[in-house]
Amino acid sequence: MALAAEFGTPLYVFDEATLRGKCAEYGEEFARRYPDTLVIYACKAFINRALAQIFKEEGLGLDVVSGGELAIAKSVDFPMERVYFHGNNKSRRELEQAIGWGVGRIVVDNFLELSLLDEVAKEAGVSQEGLLRLSPGVDPHTHAYITTGVIESKFGFPIAEAEEALAKAMSSSYFELIGFHFHIGSQIFELESYREAIEIVLRFAAEMRSKYGFKFEEFSPGGGLAISYTQDSPAPTIAEFAEVISSTLLEKSKDLSLEPPRLVIEPGRSIVGQAGVALYTVGATKEIPGLRKYVSVDGGMADNIRPALYGDRYEAVVANKMEEEDLERVTIAGKFCQSGDILIKDIDLPKLAPGDIIAIPGSGAYCLSMASNYNASLKPAIVLVKDGEARLIRRRESYEDLMSHDLV
Ligand SMILES: Cc1ncc(COP(=O)(O)O)c(C=O)c1O
Repeated sequence: MALAAEFGTPLYVFDEATLRGKCAEYGEEFARRYPDTLVIYACKAFINRALAQIFKEEGLGLDVVSGGELAIAKSVDFPMERVYFHGNNKSRRELEQAIGWGVGRIVVDNFLELSLLDEVAKEAGVSQEGLLRLSPGVDPHTHAYITTGVIESKFGFPIAEAEEALAKAMSSSYFELIGFHFHIGSQIFELESYREAIEIVLRFAAEMRSKYGFKFEEFSPGGGLAISYTQDSPAPTIAEFAEVISSTLLEKSKDLSLEPPRLVIEPGRSIVGQAGVALYTVGATKEIPGLRKYVSVDGGMADNIRPALYGDRYEAVVANKMEEEDLERVTIAGKFCQSGDILIKDIDLPKLAPGDIIAIPGSGAYCLSMASNYNASLKPAIVLVKDGEARLIRRRESYEDLMSHDLV
């Protein structure tokens, strides 16, 4: 309540202890099972300069997918050797930027990029290390929009084309291929899918060693661990995720007589998701007797498009009515001009009145990073809370910000 009063709503609140705790948990759970692991945070889940600074202090690397994410990393002096550059359509300019700034790895997605990268690295006079992104053809049964490792995915080399890609990469003088990456999707509950995909890629690595003398030094099985958005959908733990990845990698490497490669994992959602809470103020209500009661809040799909895009579900509490037990069923609607702008359909909450503050936990991932200015709305403020103190880490947009790029 105090934060909403001080900073206004919609407001995104990140808890620094949770963020740092998740970084440490990833580090420890992997170090215990597979010491040669680098944890890199997937910026697409949400990044800004304050968060990048925290990940730097925690010793993580970063997975970036655009010149913009790279620029944020650069702005906090992030150690570039721990930055991995992903993306299925990197531009020449982005590749020049990445190589010029000395990123650790470029994760090559397609044949055009292989040629482009060779040219850009040659011009820069460097030998750039990187991985090939493979699409292992494994379906982890998450939402179709965030399934990325099936054969029909837009990302990576299908395993059937991977040999040609490897041969081309190995013949390059300016791109040094040191391993493979895959990312099968996001919000994944079925950890067995990782086992399946790792086996496919390791078999391929062993085959390429025999055929081309390929040295498999580094392996990245991406990110994707689910988080629990609602009490009825418990997600696997970081320890369970680490166990499946590490044990499969160790066992399969042994079976195939491969030296276990250095491991790179790329969690996004499972680091930042539960560290963030969104606060909204209740405004108008509309009751359609016998059908539905809508309660509208001052944000919605412009700051969190996930329910509208994927049909995702959230839970909520009323910050100023935490003790009330008399509940009614409502639908929390956003304020934007689409009927699909619903944040939570059918949730039991204390009777709501204008001015009440609704808090939606689990809002740290893929909300702000996909936020828009729909309806010329202003993007929310963000605060970081630590030891009971709140620090503004992004101010709310103003009308001036909104119009700052318009030319009349
Ligand atoms: C290549 C890559 N790595 C890592 C991630 C992070 O996934 P998540 O936030 O589900 O951990 C993504 C997101 O889809 C991705 O595309």
